[in-house]
Amino acid sequence: MNSRADSRFMRALRCEPVDRTPVWLMRQAGRYLPEYRATREQAGSFLALAGNPELACEVTLQPIRRFGFDAAILFSDILILPHAMGLGLRFTPGEGPWFERPLHQVADIDRLGRPDPEDDTGEVMAAVRLIRQSLPDKVPLIGFAGSPWTVATYMIEGRGSRDFARAKGLLLAEPAAAERLMHLLAEATADYLLAQVAAGADALMIFDTWGGILSPSLYRHYSLSSQARIVERLAADAPDTPVILFGKGCGQHIEAVAATGCAGVGVDWTMDLGEARRRVGPDIALQGNLDPSVLLTNPTVIGQQVHAVLDAHGSGPGHIFNLGHGITPEVPPEHVSCLVEAVRSYRAD
Ligand code: CP3
Repeated sequence: MNSRADSRFMRALRCEPVDRTPVWLMRQAGRYLPEYRATREQAGSFLALAGNPELACEVTLQPIRRFGFDAAILFSDILILPHAMGLGLRFTPGEGPWFERPLHQVADIDRLGRPDPEDDTGEVMAAVRLIRQSLPDKVPLIGFAGSPWTVATYMIEGRGSRDFARAKGLLLAEPAAAERLMHLLAEATADYLLAQVAAGADALMIFDTWGGILSPSLYRHYSLSSQARIVERLAADAPDTPVILFGKGCGQHIEAVAATGCAGVGVDWTMDLGEARRRVGPDIALQGNLDPSVLLTNPTVIGQQVHAVLDAHGSGPGHIFNLGHGITPEVPPEHVSCLVEAVRSYRAD
């Protein structure tokens, strides 16, 4: 076993005992860090940063150096895959991401091809290889992708949305085309994640940020089943690489998420972690679930709330401390140090 396989993070993912709860944060490389803002400035834009393996490696390592997190996450974005499928990703500062060529007609879906990970997203794979070489040997690297449904919302809407009318409209009014799109995205995402494993990722995570906006039946039919297909392909072709499924607002479906065969489930802050543990049983890891807003308060409240999350999970194995969603740009970096210190100093009584 390499030293990463025996790290706290990987042990917790296998529900093995650990000396203390491992901790990392979603979006840990980002605008709340002055060193990230400086590197992004140097790159010129977010897309140039994500497309430059040396600089992507640098920003991946920044939060590891500053806070000593127990895992690193590849610096990239869930929208790089649809960009590689020809949709033309753009970022307008202050407005977020948008696509030049969104899927506005069924014919647009039928024109899509399945990208080759090395040919079409080679800079991502180069970044993974470089990060793996540059990280301390004991720190595992998490690769990731968006869930087919979450990625599809941006592909169909062309940008972020409030009501997701077009994306839901496709599922409801054009189910055959929606099936074809989810099927293609599931296969393309599995290819993409397997290539990240080949390049050096130790664990994988799938972000289903918009799973929680669907009715239960649409969620199961489109979002969960396509994630289950990805987990199935990863289990066949990368059986030693654990997968974490994170769904925002998906607490009501937690048993079904756990039943996909994933190693861990990411939980947002709207569900009590003790309840989550009772519902999934002892054999699956849980990752979460501090409300990111807590990081905007003060050190005393942060310490109390971190301990409340650890208390809620209880002393059994299989907990990875994280936020319930990504860290926001306004968070003072000192508050992240308080969070990490509160996890490290915790002793359950
Ligand atoms: O976690 C990490 O540190 C790794 C990098 C990472 C980014 N995006 C970098 C990023 C990861 C894992 C993501 C995932 C992602 N991207 C999701 C799923 C998780 C979530 O947060 O819900 C989604 C929905 C996206 C799409 C996306 N990318 C949006 C909506 C935005 C704009 C909003 C924002 O926060 O600015 C982005 C841009 C983005 N992706 C930034 C970063 C650091 C900010 C870009 C900048 O530097 O200006």
